[in-house]
Amino acid sequence: MTKIDPNTLANIDDVTTEHLHLDLKVDFEKQRLIGSVLLTLKTLTEQVQEVVLDTNHLIINGVYDGEDSEKSLQYKFDEEDSKFGRALHITLPGSLSANQIVKVLVKYETTKECGALQWLEPSQTVGKKHPYLFTQCEAIHARSLVPCQDSPGVKITYSANIDTPAPLRALMSALRINEEPEIVGDSRIYKFEQKTTMPSYLIALVVGELEGREIGPRSTVWSEPAMIEKCAWEFVDTEEFIKTGEELLTPYEWGRYDLLVLPASFPYGGMENPCLTFVTPTLLAGDRSLVDVVAHEIAHSWMGNLVTTKSWENFWLNEGWTMFIERKIIGRMHGEPTRQFSAQMGVKALEADIDFFGQKDPLTCLCPRLRGVDPDDAFSSVPYEKGFNLLYYLEQHLGGASVFEPYMKAYVQHFAGKALCTQEWKDFLYAYMEKTHGQEKVDLLNQVDWNGWLHTPGMPPVENKFDQSLTHACTHLAKKWDEHREVPFEASPKDIENFTADQKVFFLEKVLETKPLPHNAIEAMDKAYTLTKVQNAEIRFKWQMVCLKTEYQPIYPEVAKFVVEQGRMKYTRPLYRALYKCPSGSQLARDTFIKNKSFYHPICSRLVEKDLGLVN
Ligand code: BES
Ligand code: ZN
Repeated sequence: MTKIDPNTLANIDDVTTEHLHLDLKVDFEKQRLIGSVLLTLKTLTEQVQEVVLDTNHLIINGVYDGEDSEKSLQYKFDEEDSKFGRALHITLPGSLSANQIVKVLVKYETTKECGALQWLEPSQTVGKKHPYLFTQCEAIHARSLVPCQDSPGVKITYSANIDTPAPLRALMSALRINEEPEIVGDSRIYKFEQKTTMPSYLIALVVGELEGREIGPRSTVWSEPAMIEKCAWEFVDTEEFIKTGEELLTPYEWGRYDLLVLPASFPYGGMENPCLTFVTPTLLAGDRSLVDVVAHEIAHSWMGNLVTTKSWENFWLNEGWTMFIERKIIGRMHGEPTRQFSAQMGVKALEADIDFFGQKDPLTCLCPRLRGVDPDDAFSSVPYEKGFNLLYYLEQHLGGASVFEPYMKAYVQHFAGKALCTQEWKDFLYAYMEKTHGQEKVDLLNQVDWNGWLHTPGMPPVENKFDQSLTHACTHLAKKWDEHREVPFEASPKDIENFTADQKVFFLEKVLETKPLPHNAIEAMDKAYTLTKVQNAEIRFKWQMVCLKTEYQPIYPEVAKFVVEQGRMKYTRPLYRALYKCPSGSQLARDTFIKNKSFYHPICSRLVEKDLGLVN
């Protein structure tokens, strides 16, 4: 039998983890976490003799019987795998039969090589006074934070005691047990508990000078003190997003929904850590125009966190479903045309990524094979947008929202607390449609080109039709620029005065699709629309891409500035790649990266290094 998750070294078919308790001290001087994890394991088969845990760049200081910490257990490491780390084999006390509970205590510490952690010097924070630490475990970095069965199909509860130096505060993806630290000798301990089962990639920790502001009945936004007002203003819609999610699906399960706004090097837009979503400060546009990311992370409270993919090969079950729910939320709050608009932006992102990977690249399949592949290297919009398009297509094909929305809810109810793969998803879809609507819907499902959608590279087999009411003006204006490329027309600020930020992005996206514009057209566009000065990160990013596509050198210093001001991979990687691709920009791209390497999160740094051909 082939293992369901090719990206774990743990023996997840023999043993599973039920609970994980962390006791860690945060040591900023040595930039390490040191302490222990107590794993509560349950055997799944007869005669289980060992548990194999995932680890990556961790130092093990001893392994003990969890019931008797005097009693040490035998352990050994396998050879290190450069992508997946080192398997830690622990001999269990006695040979166990199925369904037995056994506890194992592992004393360990992290090292500088641990990819889940970014340690920031005071100079890398807004306040400049205190150091900062944050983790990012998705996809397979939890194993560099804690020895564990690092597979999304293993769903656990967890608790933690984090010893943190004053005056810093620790927060985790769990409920806070004490507001003020418990003082025990020299230790100041923050305690946490996550009572809802979740996968290891959702374990998260942040330690820094943090201030909180209440923004809703179950929500506090946290950030460094200097930005807290701005954050509280930007994210006021949070509660309405959650409520809309509850109307569409099931009651919110996790108790609290707090937000943490991270330092600029946070490599993602957002990360759905339960009870505490992490977001990039690039969302702080000052006009709430980028808060869709929060709706997205809230949608993960059901799709991903409650109903979880069993492996990274089925990652679309997390992200495709989340895009679908995010857009349902946006549609309910801002109207159907907004949802339709967002879907078209998604198609553009999908086209761009399929173009980047190549039409025939197997990683552009909705269900790619990831044996021997680091999921970070496979990351793209494919699971998001091909996944969204499959669900959108099914909704239309099966009779619209009145059929699909009840199904969505039933899906969450059925799989809540569980993990699943695409086959199980499909089986449930068939079973649900047959039970509630009969053979007619089964016949419709049988018409679906499943192989085309799930296992074929490139764009989806069916092109969905979306309402053009909000994209029309953008497409029209881009066309005008394309047609007048040699003889510029009288461009004026009026052309875009009624555009939303998203429409400006879409317009630039359409411009990017056409042949590179001559430099005088770029200059005319900037003069009319003042794009170089825009602070909105999405617009700024797209504009810089438009300029780099035509090797417009005056933009280079702006690009170099943007990529060192923030380290969100969505912007940083394409900008570095595009600058590097310009013959006159390659050296600047490499120099800028090398000089600022310590700014970036280890995940981002590794990928940009590859993008710039600095490593293989
Ligand atoms: N879960 C992802 C982030 C992620 C994916 C981290 C894979 C590590 C590996 C998160 O929910 C996400 O999708 N973020 C997007 C936001 C978006 C699509 C609105 C991002 O970071 O841009
Ligand atoms: Zn997501």
